[in-house]
Amino acid sequence: MSGATIRQVKDYVGQSVTIGCWLYNKRSSGKIQFLQLRDGTGFIQAVVVKNEVSEDIWAQAGKLTQESSLYVTGTVRVDERSQSGFELSVTGLETIQIASEYPITPKEHGVDYLMDHRHLWLRSPRQRAVMVVRAHIIRAVQEYFDTNGFYLVDPPVLTPSSCEGTTNLFHTKYFDEDAYLTQSGQLYMEAAAMALGRVYSFGPTFRAEKSKTRRHLIEFWMIEPEMAFVDHEENLRIQEQFVSHVVQSVLKNCEQELQTLERDLTKLRNVTAPFPRITYDEALVLLKDNGLELPWGEDFGAPHETEIARHFDKPVFITHYPASFKAFYMKPDPNRPEVVLCADLIAPEGYGEIIGGSQRIDDPELMQERFVQHELQQDAYNWYLDLRKYGTVPHSGFGLGLERTVAWICGLDHVRETIPFPRLLNRLYP
Ligand code: 4AD
Ligand code: MG
Repeated sequence: MSGATIRQVKDYVGQSVTIGCWLYNKRSSGKIQFLQLRDGTGFIQAVVVKNEVSEDIWAQAGKLTQESSLYVTGTVRVDERSQSGFELSVTGLETIQIASEYPITPKEHGVDYLMDHRHLWLRSPRQRAVMVVRAHIIRAVQEYFDTNGFYLVDPPVLTPSSCEGTTNLFHTKYFDEDAYLTQSGQLYMEAAAMALGRVYSFGPTFRAEKSKTRRHLIEFWMIEPEMAFVDHEENLRIQEQFVSHVVQSVLKNCEQELQTLERDLTKLRNVTAPFPRITYDEALVLLKDNGLELPWGEDFGAPHETEIARHFDKPVFITHYPASFKAFYMKPDPNRPEVVLCADLIAPEGYGEIIGGSQRIDDPELMQERFVQHELQQDAYNWYLDLRKYGTVPHSGFGLGLERTVAWICGLDHVRETIPFPRLLNRLYP
């Protein structure tokens, strides 16, 4: 007899194994009980036959309720009909705890109820599948950057200043000073790029967004690469290779989870570099032709992004937005200074913006002008200006929102299911 996980049973066909697990469902037909078991690594059916086990084991099996915990011992058999491909013939059973009145039953529950029970909801097959895909996306992200000459650098979480505008900052006290939870590690990653060349960060970011949409979280995780001597064009090439790598890697490694999520894979298989590109101006024309006219200089909202994405079968870059509503650090197009060398990457199927990126201003004078225009307290940004004063170079970077990427790849309606414990407007529990 050996301790094993459900994932490992394929290596024990014909042998006896003991598995620590939970019961998630049960069926009985007189002299046989079918136990549906899960252990985090997978799902398996265990069969208890009355005249093959002791009375005690038969009785214990009969008392098991949803989410009761146990050690089950049995012989592994191949079972072509089951999803896992295997089945256990039970020879032993040790109950750890009988769970009574588990709050999440197989019937339908409302979203608020499920969110109140998020700590338990995570156990469901769908939620588990999302978390497995999320973990795999993180692995594929790190794999891409670690094998393409990037160093992982960790920016601070507590900061004295803003990166993405001052309207949604999370304020806190830092002893006697004012501090904010980071909105983006970018400014620090620019300093790191000047020290290490190509760098990326992966960490939590915070935005006190008063918007209650299916794409916004208060706390979300961002991947932020920053690269010295990389211009706008190369920035886009790196983004399309990177996103393609992540999607193709998930397709290869998370087949079963994507099946659990009933994801349409044809659209994901199509995600390969290069990606189509349109300028902000071209996007305005496309929108007008489709009944969504906007004046030049206005930002797109979710409906506009969805309409644009509908015309492409891959993620699409929208480039050269007006400087007026973009971040202070974006480099103006030398041929047309009213637009900036930036791009948002819009995911297909209505999932919206997953990446925001740009070439950065490298001229110290222009940067100082921007501090004034954006009413930023220069004292807090003197260190950032130093990066332009001491050996400035062209450089670019971008930020990929992890949760929107998970929502897209998993095909989920709302980002609340993409993170184990979502922080939403009006939700801090559990
Ligand atoms: O476009 P954003 O605001 O860009 C930045 O923060 C840059 N400083 C990144 C950089 O160049 N290093 O945010 C980047 C991405 C968005 O495209 C989106 O995917 C995600 O972060 N994001 C959010 N995800 C969930 N909830 C929110 N409230 C989000 N805000 C942005
Ligand atoms: Mg953005």
